[in-house]
Amino acid sequence: MSKLSLDRILQSQGFGTRKWCRELIAVGDVSFAGEVLTDHRMEIETDGLVFSLFDEQWRYREHVYIALHKPANYECSRKPSHHPGVLSLLPEPFALRDVQPVGRLDHDTTGLLLMSDDGAFIHAQSSPRRHIPKIYVATTQDPVTPELVSQLLGGVKLHDEPAPLAAEICRRLSAHEIEIVLEQGKYHQVKRMLAAAGNHCVALRRTQIGRLELAALELPEGEWCYLDAQELMLLTPE
Ligand code: URA
Repeated sequence: MSKLSLDRILQSQGFGTRKWCRELIAVGDVSFAGEVLTDHRMEIETDGLVFSLFDEQWRYREHVYIALHKPANYECSRKPSHHPGVLSLLPEPFALRDVQPVGRLDHDTTGLLLMSDDGAFIHAQSSPRRHIPKIYVATTQDPVTPELVSQLLGGVKLHDEPAPLAAEICRRLSAHEIEIVLEQGKYHQVKRMLAAAGNHCVALRRTQIGRLELAALELPEGEWCYLDAQELMLLTPE
C-alpha cells in the first residue's frame, strides 16, 4: 500500500514533467472514480488505482512488462537510424517512462519482443547465466538437411567467438524451415550460425522466450499487451 500525490502519479506513469502534470490536473483533464480532480496535492492510494486522462483509462503500474509482436522493418535501438523504432508502436507515455526492449532483434526479425521499464527485470532477462531458452524459426535459402541440423547441434565456429556455438535444440520443420533454440543472445547469432553451417537465413521469427509462447498471446503483428504475473512466471528458469 502506498499513497502518492496526483501530480507524482501522473509523472511516474509517463505523462510529462511534474509541472506539465500539474497543468493537466488544474484544467480538469484528470478524473478518478468518475470525479474530476483538480488538486495536484491530493494523495491517492496507488494500489489498484485506475484514473482517466483525456477520457482514456489508465491503471497505475509501478513498472510495465510488455510483449510486442515485432513486425519487420522496426529497429530495437534507442536511436533508430534507418527504420522507425519499436517504441513508436507503443503509447507515447511508455517512452517517457523509459520503457526499452529486453535485448534486441534485428530490424528484419519478427516475433516476440519483451519490453519494460524495470531495470532489474531487463538485467535478469538479459543475463546469460539465467539460461532462458529463446526459440527461433528461420526460413532458409537452401533446404534444411539432416547435416545442417547436426552441425547446428554440434556447434559451429563464428568469427570473434572463442569457442563453437551450438543450438540447445534444433529441428527441421519443413523443407526450408528450421526451429533453433538458443540460450545465448550473440549478435546476429542465428543468421551467423546458419551461414557458418553453409546455408543462408532469408527470414527469422522469434516464437518463444522461456515458456512464454507468442502464439498463446494471440497478438497480431505490430500489437502489444501487458504481461500479467502468470505470464511473467513463464519467463523464469524452470
Ligand atoms: N539471431 C539473429 O541472427 N537475429 C536476431 O534478430 C535474433 C537472433
